[in-house]
Amino acid sequence: MAVLPILRFEDKIVETVEKNPVVVIIGETGSGKSTQLSQILHRRGYTRSGAIAITQPRRVAAVSLSRRVALEVGVQLGEEVGYAIRFEDRTSAKTCIKYLTDGVLLRESLSNPELNQYSVIILDEVHERSLNSDIILGLMKRLVKIRSSNLRVLITSATLDGVKVSKFFSGCPVMNIPGKLFPVEKLYSSERPKCYIESSLRTALDIHSREPPGDILIFMTGKDDIDKMVSKLEEKIQNLDEGSCMDAQVLSLHGSLPPEMQVRVFSPAHPNCRRIIVATNIAETSLTVDGVVYVIDTGYVKQRQYNPSTGMYSLDVVQISRVQADQRAGRAGRTRPGKCYRLYPSKVYHEEFLDATVPEIQRSSLAGSVLYLKSLNLPDIDILNFDFLDPPSRESLADALRQLYLIDAIDEDGMITHVGRTMAELPLEPSLSRTLIEANELGCLSQALTVVAMLSAEITHLSIHSIKDKKRKQPLKLPSGSYWGDHIHLLRIYENWDCADYDPAWCTEHNLQVRNMKFSRDVRKQLSQIMQKISKGPVDIQSSVRQKKGEQEYRSLRKALCRGFGNQLAERMLHHNGFRTLGYRSQLVQVHPSSMLETNEDGRLPDYVVYHELISTSRPFMRNVCAVDISWVAPILKKLEKMDIHKLSGGLESEKIEQAEHKQLQLHNLEESGSGRGDSMESRIQAARERYLARKANK
Ligand code: CDP
Ligand code: MG
Repeated sequence: MAVLPILRFEDKIVETVEKNPVVVIIGETGSGKSTQLSQILHRRGYTRSGAIAITQPRRVAAVSLSRRVALEVGVQLGEEVGYAIRFEDRTSAKTCIKYLTDGVLLRESLSNPELNQYSVIILDEVHERSLNSDIILGLMKRLVKIRSSNLRVLITSATLDGVKVSKFFSGCPVMNIPGKLFPVEKLYSSERPKCYIESSLRTALDIHSREPPGDILIFMTGKDDIDKMVSKLEEKIQNLDEGSCMDAQVLSLHGSLPPEMQVRVFSPAHPNCRRIIVATNIAETSLTVDGVVYVIDTGYVKQRQYNPSTGMYSLDVVQISRVQADQRAGRAGRTRPGKCYRLYPSKVYHEEFLDATVPEIQRSSLAGSVLYLKSLNLPDIDILNFDFLDPPSRESLADALRQLYLIDAIDEDGMITHVGRTMAELPLEPSLSRTLIEANELGCLSQALTVVAMLSAEITHLSIHSIKDKKRKQPLKLPSGSYWGDHIHLLRIYENWDCADYDPAWCTEHNLQVRNMKFSRDVRKQLSQIMQKISKGPVDIQSSVRQKKGEQEYRSLRKALCRGFGNQLAERMLHHNGFRTLGYRSQLVQVHPSSMLETNEDGRLPDYVVYHELISTSRPFMRNVCAVDISWVAPILKKLEKMDIHKLSGGLESEKIEQAEHKQLQLHNLEESGSGRGDSMESRIQAARERYLARKANK
């Protein structure tokens, strides 16, 4: 194999890193940034004083890169080279090259803010602009000042605007690694196809029967479309006349593929066989597949977008950006001149596509990130003025603050609370962490841990889909519970598995993926350990999940869920033709078809449910709902009455000013002395607050 471009710059890279605490390295995808930089610095002695961390926005990439590097270094995965992703740590005391997701690095910095275990931190794939990596960029800016003598930060990217990042890091050097890309001919369609699956299918078959050898890479939007495409391709290829063209092997590549299936794309094709790889945007830059000569670009990507004013997520298929389109085309020119079939007109590329993808920080719910920043407790960090490469909107920051206040993570002055601190230690979204803490108070932590673990392992209700599939086994029959919603249903599944002594065969019989179920058991164990560690008081975790019987309708558990999700309330409106429609902020919203929520014997839905997520696909749907009592929700919503978003956002700053003013008032009052002091104190504090707010508004 030819020498990777980055290796030709080894000396230059080491020299630059030696002299500068922060270096930006820009190099074409496949130039060896992710696999070689860590090894270069390891060879040059950087691991003597600490480990090298390489962050990845995607879990799949962290796993696959560490495997590859372990192989190249010639060690067992988990020894000198390892990886850490949420709920899975394959590292040991020996590990000196560690691939980890950006989320895991953030978590590590909570217990060790100076990240002293690392001598080098490589922020990889920064052009993806994931929410966590944007936050890490801000933290690194602080950290390199504190650890200027013994920390090196490398920021690598395939497409990033190097100048912008260099400016952010007060003019740090930018190294460009020239790639060896071959020319790629771009072929545009004359118009947008009606169905892009059909159109990519036709294009792929055309290439296969007419073009010389070389693998085909097709970019689709998600797993479902990929599965459809793979089965259509396989069928069509089987029906081709024998001997009319070479053999073909169809492979899929996406984030939720099991590891053993992922590695298949990295092994070379058989002789005289063309590989057709159907992938998500994961193959744009995160994972490099060798041997590709033809790219089919549908021009779309699936993007999650959060709307802070409605609290709704949408999972939209949107047009890619020009940067993405160029990356996709580039995949065809790695080994020799290639072709890129763009299933859209060139006018669309030039006039409709955005220059670059909108960073995740500007399209996500920020509750988790804001809680994280608050919990760092760094006196010089002010959330609203935090140094972001691209700041999020004030609206979405306000939305995050409001959510955190409602679940008691911050107090009315925007200060992090004891509960908030505990929440930040759990590797979960804030609402789920809040649920666990409440469940511990209410004596149902064991059940809540199960539910959270099942949600984290993304156990899907395969039983529902199997009803449509007659060949499959019988749907999972569970004793009652579905009237109480999905969480209780998930709990019942796990409890039944527990009764079957965690038999893998039980999962198969009930159409549940053994791998995911085992994973949920593992997650449950890990979460129990964290709860035990962080909880000061007694913790109700039983080694077995089996509960004392007779707990009426899982009341405590539902109450705990309500504490975490009380803000996300919907009420029963109507129920007909099997549609489960509920009212939400005076809209009609449906319970997602995958939900296990059922009517009771009288054919009624619960009066109130809280939902985990509101997601808009073809229409707004609630995912994962749980029946609740309105009396549980009322006190939570009552908190809104005293809420003042300015104070929440002011955080430390407002607190400090108010404390100062408060002190002054006290002194003043002492001097004054006399009756009616309480009243006057109240009104003076109020006046001080108003002055403060007025000042703030004038800023
Ligand atoms: O990060 P960058 O895109 O610059 O390149 P890389 O991921 O370090 O890939 C360098 C080479 O290693 C490519 O030829 C990849 O195909 C190969 N590689 C691999 O074979 N298996 C992996 N899991 C990762 C990379
Ligand atoms: Mg890379």
